[in-house]
Amino acid sequence: MSDSDDDDVPTLSEHTLAALRDFYTEQETRSGPGVESTPSEQFAVGAVGEDWRMSQFWYTDDTATRLAQELLHEAGEGGRIACVSAPSVYQKLKQLAGPDQASVVVLEYDRRFSIYGHDFVFYDYKEPLSLAASVAPHSFDVVLADPPYLSEECLSKVSQTVKFLSKGKVLLCTGAVMENVAKQLLDVKVCNFLPKHNRNLSNEFRCFVNYTSRLLTC
Ligand SMILES: C[S@@+](CC[C@H](N)C(=O)[O-])C[C@H]1O[C@@H](n2cnc3c(N)ncnc32)[C@H](O)[C@@H]1O
Repeated sequence: MSDSDDDDVPTLSEHTLAALRDFYTEQETRSGPGVESTPSEQFAVGAVGEDWRMSQFWYTDDTATRLAQELLHEAGEGGRIACVSAPSVYQKLKQLAGPDQASVVVLEYDRRFSIYGHDFVFYDYKEPLSLAASVAPHSFDVVLADPPYLSEECLSKVSQTVKFLSKGKVLLCTGAVMENVAKQLLDVKVCNFLPKHNRNLSNEFRCFVNYTSRLLTC
């Protein structure tokens, strides 16, 4: 997940690689022309396949659910939630949130997520403040971010975006190795809850918040 340092790239075992090859073959077989998804399938976690070239590693359904529940709790009734580079949590929020419970946007680099219409905001962390005019500053009750790379350069740019969007509450999910940098940039502390991914990554991942969380235990 580092764009500059091989040490930070999550490594997959031979067994996992073989499973991934099978997975992609199966996906390609399934998604022939004329195959359309229903709205509930569209919002299923993992509805859009992972693409390693964009450092995509989706959460398990349980982790996406826990993070979505946390965001709904912290946003409150009618609150606004921004998911920065965390599309599976956006998908889970759309499944869980009642019609007037919360509004959610997903800021993403991968334009496949434009299937989510007005909820999709194109985002490249390298231009942290180049965002659509529809995204007003300090207009989100809680912001979740899962940066694509484990580097200080990436986290410091994503932090600029998070500070721009946020009214105050921040939930960051990233590698445990980023703890000190995350503390400096966003004043967040590590949670006991351990986020899990569908593919086993060798990097330890953690959640960090700048408030007290019962659901994530921190
Ligand atoms: C480690 S994944 C986080 C996904 C999260 N675990 C989930 O399940 O939703 C990193 C995310 O960053 C996005 N991404 C890749 N390149 C990016 C860029 N240049 N700017 C912003 N986001 C990017 C990927 O598409 C992916 O959604």
